[in-house]
Amino acid sequence: MQFKDRHRQDIASSEEPDNLLDIHLSQDELQEINSECMHYPERRAAAIEALKIVQHYRGWVSDPVLFAVARELGMPAGELEGVATFYNLIYRKPVGKHVILVCDSVCCWLKEGHLIGAFIADRLKIEPGQTTEDGLFTLLPTVCLGDCDHAPTMMIDHHHYQDLSCEMVDKLLQLYRDEEIPEGDM
Ligand code: FES
Repeated sequence: MQFKDRHRQDIASSEEPDNLLDIHLSQDELQEINSECMHYPERRAAAIEALKIVQHYRGWVSDPVLFAVARELGMPAGELEGVATFYNLIYRKPVGKHVILVCDSVCCWLKEGHLIGAFIADRLKIEPGQTTEDGLFTLLPTVCLGDCDHAPTMMIDHHHYQDLSCEMVDKLLQLYRDEEIPEGDM
């Protein structure tokens, strides 16, 4: 059984152990989740949005936080874990300050996007899926980012960058290190 599947099964069968009851969502998180729920006939339908809200505040979604969100939505934690696992922009492990998502789908491959991913890994001295020692960057391969006509592409946090070259990537990484974050494509 894969680690991810085993973890999901543990969550699904768990009875909400005591240490998972310690976490309470902040007033801001609760307010945003409740306001999101008002758009849906059932609270559980806001599951993805609720996970995105807590991730925005906390950087990632730990098990205790996942249980707390499930309680707020009135749904089983195992079901919410299934949603979190399906949606690949919900992080279930700690990530760096900036998450780099390099497109790993066909149009980008045809434009040598895999070389961009390898270049970033080499520059940051990490493997895909890892975080740099200084906690600044996490590198993740991802499915199509919807910018296929401008392959190869990547996202850093919420910003899309298109028609990438190694030179552009180098420049972008330095801008993020310097906290001079460009708003979009360069
Ligand atoms: S295949 Fe890379 S953006 Fe679509």
